[in-house]
Amino acid sequence: MTLEEARKKATALATEIREHDWRYHVLAAPVISDREYDRLMDALRTIEAQFPELISPESPTQRVGGEPTKLFPSAVHHVPMLSLANTYSTQEVEDFARRVRDLLGHDPAEGYTCEFKFDGVAMSLLYEGGRLVRGATRGDGTTGDDVTPNVRTIRAIPLVLRSSSSLAQQSFEVRGEVFMELEGFRRMNIEREAQGEPPFANPRNSTAGTLKTLDPREVAKRPLRFSAYQLRFDDEPTERLPNLDKHSARLDVLREFGFPVSNETRIVKDIPGIMEFAMHWQEHRDELPFEIDGAVIKVNSLREQEHVGFVAKSPRWAIAYKFETKQAETRLNGITLQVGRMGTITPVAELEPVALTGITIRRATLHNADEIQRKDIRIGDLVRVERGGEVIPKVVGVDLLKRPRSAKPFIFPNKCPECKSILIRPPGEVNWYCENPECPAQVLGRITHFASRGAMDIAGLGEQSVEQFIHAGLLQNVADIYELKDQRSKLIALERMGEKKVDNLLSGIQESKERPTSRFLFALGIRHVGTSVAKLLVDEFGSVDAIADASEEAIDAVPGIGPEIASSIYGYFRDERNRKLLDRLRTAGLPFVGQKKPKPVSSAFFAGKTFVLTGTLTAMTREEAKEKIESRGGKVAGSVSKKTDYVVAGTEAGSKLTKAEQLGVNILSEQLFLKEL
Ligand code: IVH
Repeated sequence: MTLEEARKKATALATEIREHDWRYHVLAAPVISDREYDRLMDALRTIEAQFPELISPESPTQRVGGEPTKLFPSAVHHVPMLSLANTYSTQEVEDFARRVRDLLGHDPAEGYTCEFKFDGVAMSLLYEGGRLVRGATRGDGTTGDDVTPNVRTIRAIPLVLRSSSSLAQQSFEVRGEVFMELEGFRRMNIEREAQGEPPFANPRNSTAGTLKTLDPREVAKRPLRFSAYQLRFDDEPTERLPNLDKHSARLDVLREFGFPVSNETRIVKDIPGIMEFAMHWQEHRDELPFEIDGAVIKVNSLREQEHVGFVAKSPRWAIAYKFETKQAETRLNGITLQVGRMGTITPVAELEPVALTGITIRRATLHNADEIQRKDIRIGDLVRVERGGEVIPKVVGVDLLKRPRSAKPFIFPNKCPECKSILIRPPGEVNWYCENPECPAQVLGRITHFASRGAMDIAGLGEQSVEQFIHAGLLQNVADIYELKDQRSKLIALERMGEKKVDNLLSGIQESKERPTSRFLFALGIRHVGTSVAKLLVDEFGSVDAIADASEEAIDAVPGIGPEIASSIYGYFRDERNRKLLDRLRTAGLPFVGQKKPKPVSSAFFAGKTFVLTGTLTAMTREEAKEKIESRGGKVAGSVSKKTDYVVAGTEAGSKLTKAEQLGVNILSEQLFLKEL
C-alpha cells in the first residue's frame, strides 16, 4: 500500500467509525455489533501502525488516551463561565418569571426552555475548523484547567464535527456537562473497592475526580458522558441567522454538529408550563439512568436574554430549580466502628430498617467523628437518611424536635474496636486511625487485598479462608502465604478444606508468582497505589527495588504521580517492617523485576503542533529549543495567534504571554516543556 492509498483508507475508516461512535454514544442507537465495530478499529490501527504519520489527535484510535502529564495548564475562558441562581420553591420560580415579564413588558415571545440540571461538572469545549482544540473545566469562572487530553477520551464528545457546513468551520465554544451514568458509576466503584481504592461518594465526585486524573489512559476507562447546553461563536454574526436567534434553535445546531443534547428539553409558554416540567421530573427523575438535581429554565429568545441581562455572577434570564432530595426518617439504634485495611476508622449508623427508593436501609455511613458532632447526632435520635447515586446511604441530619430524653451523645471511642490500641488522629485529618499494623482487622484486610482478583489473584484465598488461616495460626502476613506449602497437613486438617482444595490453593499460590510486577506492587497495599499508579511506577523504574531506592523527588517527578502519592510510597519503603517483609517475598520468588517502558523518540505531543517561544529559558537557548521541537515534528512560529497550540514561557516573558492569555492559548512553563521533551 502506498502512503496515499493508506491515507484514503484510513480517512474512510475514521469517518465510518465516527459515524458509529455518534450512533452509539449520542443517539444510543447502534447499527452494528461490537464485534464489527472492533474490526473497523483494528483495521484502522493496523494502517496507522504501518504509517504512523497518518495518526492525528482526532483519530478514533486516540480515544484510549495519551501519555500521562504532570499538571494541567491553565485555560482562560474567552467569556467567563457564570453560574445560575438556585431556587428551591415554586414561589421563587414564579418570582423569577414575574421579574422576566416585568422587564420585558410581556411573557417571553419565544417562551422558556426547560432543561435538565445535570449533576456533573461544567465543561467548555473550543472548536476551530471543525475540530476540538481545547477542553477546560470551569475553575473560578475566569480561568480553569486545560484537560484536553482527558476530554478527548470521552466518546460522546466529537473530535471532528459531523457537519462540514461553513457554520461548523467557525471558531465556537460549546458548554455542557460531563457526567457519569449511575450504572457505570456503580460498576466503577465495585471495581475500586475490589482494588482497595476508596469508592467515590457519588457520580459527580467521581466525574470531577476523573477529569483531574493525570493519566488520560485511566480516564478513557471511566464511563463519562456529555450533554451540551450552550453554543457561542467567537465572532457572533451581527445579523443573526434565523437558526441562531433562539436558544432552542442553537440546541438543534449542536445536534447537527454531532453533540449529545438532551431530548427531554421542552419549550413552554409560561409559569404553569415551567412548573409542569419541574414537577414531572421531580417525580420521575429516578427513572433516568443518570442523576439530575433540578431543572434549568432559560428565556428562549437570545434578543430577550440580552434585554433581561445579568446580575453580578448569574444571568437574570435563567434560573435553576433544585429538586428536594429523597430522604427517609428512622431511628438510630447504635453506632459501630469499621476498621479499614489501612487502619481508617469509619463510624457506621446501625438503623431501624427503613425503605427508601426501593431498597431497605439498615446501615449508613456517618463519615467521621466531626460529622457526628457537627450534626449533633445521638443514639436514639430520629435521623434522616439519604441515598443519591451513592452506593452507601448517609445520615444527613437529625430531627431535634423528636429527640427522646434518653438520647445519648456518642462518645467517639479512643480505642480500636478490634485490637484495643489507642486511636490516633493526625493533625489536619478528619479520620481517626488504628496505627497498630498487627490489628487483626488490618491484617485480614491486607492479606485479603493481596490475594484479591485485581492483585495477585489467588483462587481459594478469599476473606473467609484468610480469616480461617489467621485463626489457625497459619497466616500473619502476606509473606506467610508462600510458606503455606510447608503446612499442607495442617491445612488439610482444617474444617471445610480437604486434600483437593488444599492442593488447588497451593498451586494457585505458586502460579501467583508469575503475575506482572505492577500487580505485585499494587498487591502490597501501599496507600494511594492503585493499579494505574503501580503501572506508572514500574514503567518508570523497572523494578520494585529501584522504586524502593528512589528518592521522594524522583517518584514525585513521574508523570501522573503527585506529591501525596510520592510521600506515601517513599514512606512505605522506609519502614523496617516492610523491608523485612519484602526480603521474605523476594526469597519466595515474587516478581520484583519488571520492565521499564522505553521512552518514545518521535513525540505525539509535539507532532503537528505550533509553538511560540517567549522569555528566557534556563536549560537551553531559543535555537536549541526550536531544534528540539522541530526534531519531534512540531513547528515554531514567531508570533501568537489563534492557531498557536502552545506558548512556551521562560522567565521575563512579555507581550506574547499576555497575548496568549487573552486568546486562551495553552501556556507551558519551562518545567512542563522540559517534561514533554
Ligand atoms: S446553563 C449562565 N444549563 O449548573 C448559565 N447549566 O450554576 C450557564 N448545569 O455550572 C449554565 N445543567 O455546570 C446550564 N442545562 C443546564 C445545566 C447547567 C447543569 C450546571 C452547570 C453550571 C451550573 C450552574
